[in-house]
Amino acid sequence: MGKKINDNITWVGKTDWNIKKFHGNEYSTFKGTTYNSYLVRDEKTALIDTVWRPYADEFIENLKQEIDLKDIDYIIANHAEVDHSGSLPRLMELIPDKPIYCTQGGIQSLKGHYHKDWNFLPVETGQKLSLGKKDLIFIEAMMLHWPDSMFCYLTGDNVLFSNDAFGQHYATEQLYNDLVDQCELYVEAIKYYANILTPFSRLVIQKIDELKSLDVPVDMICPSHGVIWRDDPMQIVNKYMDWANDYQEDRVLILYDTMWGGTALLADALKEGIQDKAEVKIMRVSTADKSDMITEVFRSKIVLFGSPTVNAGILSLMAAILEQVKGMKFKDKKAASFGCFGWSGESIEVMNNLIKEAGLELINNGYSCLWEPDGDILKRAKDFAGGLIK
Ligand code: FEO
Repeated sequence: MGKKINDNITWVGKTDWNIKKFHGNEYSTFKGTTYNSYLVRDEKTALIDTVWRPYADEFIENLKQEIDLKDIDYIIANHAEVDHSGSLPRLMELIPDKPIYCTQGGIQSLKGHYHKDWNFLPVETGQKLSLGKKDLIFIEAMMLHWPDSMFCYLTGDNVLFSNDAFGQHYATEQLYNDLVDQCELYVEAIKYYANILTPFSRLVIQKIDELKSLDVPVDMICPSHGVIWRDDPMQIVNKYMDWANDYQEDRVLILYDTMWGGTALLADALKEGIQDKAEVKIMRVSTADKSDMITEVFRSKIVLFGSPTVNAGILSLMAAILEQVKGMKFKDKKAASFGCFGWSGESIEVMNNLIKEAGLELINNGYSCLWEPDGDILKRAKDFAGGLIK
């Protein structure tokens, strides 16, 4: 069933408690997620976004409890990714002539996904759609996080429908930010920013500056995932500004993998060299969650990557996380490499090259160890790590 937000707006989305992997296998959603869809009623009625395809029938049935579908006048597709557009084909079978407002990129993407020639109406920043007493004002948000992304702002109620921006993959039956555990909420919000928005941080800053320059009141921010920000909604906007400005804390992250334990011993020695100078965390890439690792890279000022040499290269999951780090386009992060070897020791050079390709600043040539590290080598590893912290 829908949930009433105010006299005009009803949440008609889906809470998905069971999803644990999102974007294929790229993003872990341990806390589930929600697909938020909103029905906005005035003299005319607009439906903002839909829900993911597997829930299309449930979505339509719930929507019918709220409104006779033929009374929906406009459909707003803020973003074409299937978690928001996936129920459109089912909906459009029932109301095929209703107009769909989206960006030019949205038309391209929706046509590409569904191969239907629906009644698309392209919109641009600043364009208004009158609902009667209130207007929806469209704001293109290219690359936040897809080329087609768009926000819309409802005058009168002062609500920003921000689609993916300001969201969290966080299932809850509570609709609002002030009703949930704040620690849990922010763990999910920063993970979401780190994994989804980091590559677009410069555009996040520009978009927030643009929103602020509109000088319109914002009483609520309704994203397409997670809770609605109604208590001090600008708190998440301000957080985004912090996160978008090359965010880092006084933390060091050690990411490593190991075959027979030698590189694990080095990781532990490095940690000992750091722990009195900065907060330090160790994660083994073959057992840690990759979205959590990206979040920890996001929070850290220095990342140490460790792998033994294998087949003149590095362990494959270390290569995988370095590839993911590269995609995030992190700025202002330092890094170094370490690892054990037996017959040949290429891993350091391979990791150093990948670190540079990933855009991290390589602090030094790394720390390597022939065979199993013993007391003296571990002592030197500890000193090596201590020397990295200014
Ligand atoms: Fe929640 Fe970009 O889709």
